[in-house]
Amino acid sequence: MLLVTEIASLKNIIKAKKQKGLTIGLVPTMGFLHEGHLSLMRAAAAENDFVVGSIFVNPLQFGIGEDYEEYPRDLENDTKLAKSAGCDLIFSPTVKEMYPSGYATFIQVERLTEGLCGASRPGHFVGVTTVVAKLFNLVRPNRAYFGQKDAQQAFVLIKMVEDLNMNLDIVVLPTVREPDGLALSSRNKYLTPGQRKEAAVIYKSLKEAESQIKKGERKTKAIRENITKSILLAKHAEVDYVEIVDCQDLSPISTINKGRCLIAVAAKFGKTRLIDNILVEV
Ligand code: PAJ
Repeated sequence: MLLVTEIASLKNIIKAKKQKGLTIGLVPTMGFLHEGHLSLMRAAAAENDFVVGSIFVNPLQFGIGEDYEEYPRDLENDTKLAKSAGCDLIFSPTVKEMYPSGYATFIQVERLTEGLCGASRPGHFVGVTTVVAKLFNLVRPNRAYFGQKDAQQAFVLIKMVEDLNMNLDIVVLPTVREPDGLALSSRNKYLTPGQRKEAAVIYKSLKEAESQIKKGERKTKAIRENITKSILLAKHAEVDYVEIVDCQDLSPISTINKGRCLIAVAAKFGKTRLIDNILVEV
């Protein structure tokens, strides 16, 4: 597996692969890889001739006072894991390489980014779409892989690809979880043992909401209140948002009608902000 840090070398390698007619799969990540990331890499390896994983803690998507500096990093272990999951190349640029001085171009998807994490993390999605658009331009993948875990991110990127007529398919794959249901996340590393144990309540509350809906509850206010109550039973928990939104435009809904809705939660355990979601079909 190749480890590339410079844009010029990446472009040369990609050009050669394209000239050979190989298909390319891209898995963008911020590193500190876990099974969630690796599941995307394995899928990319199964469906493409050449797989590029990117590891870049993107400062543009972190707000002031967020965890950019502390974000866990372990490139050496990541390259081993990525190789074992079928990656052919890891692109791990410096911040200067991606955003040289004078950098001035940003991509914004409107509306879809207004609610959920967009409301609590202003500027976050501009950072995500800008870096992912750059990666798409550099790697020119046939397919790019993202996790359902970051559902809003996946919706926003699908919209960017559609609106800017980008020539690739976005593949969204299921959330990989710990045995107690906690969604895998690089940020789980921040949790103390007590907080880690409590954090399982997020998925538990989402599953309770699902069964409430299956039993016939259609009013989202009641469902959201139950989720909040369940989460707040945990001593260290603080709820950022609990939303039930339409699957097309991510707008909040008051009554669940036929079709699919997304239940999304962001909660803090101590200083650590965790997100999770499920899709429910009625
Ligand atoms: P990161 O949080 O490292 O996640 C990289 C990819 O892995 C994302 O598509 C995310 O949805 C997916 N992922 C994370 N946890 C997962 C889990 N438990 N199960 C399945 N997939 C999971 O998301 C980002 O980085 C960044 O915003 C990025 C897209 C790389 C842009 O900087």
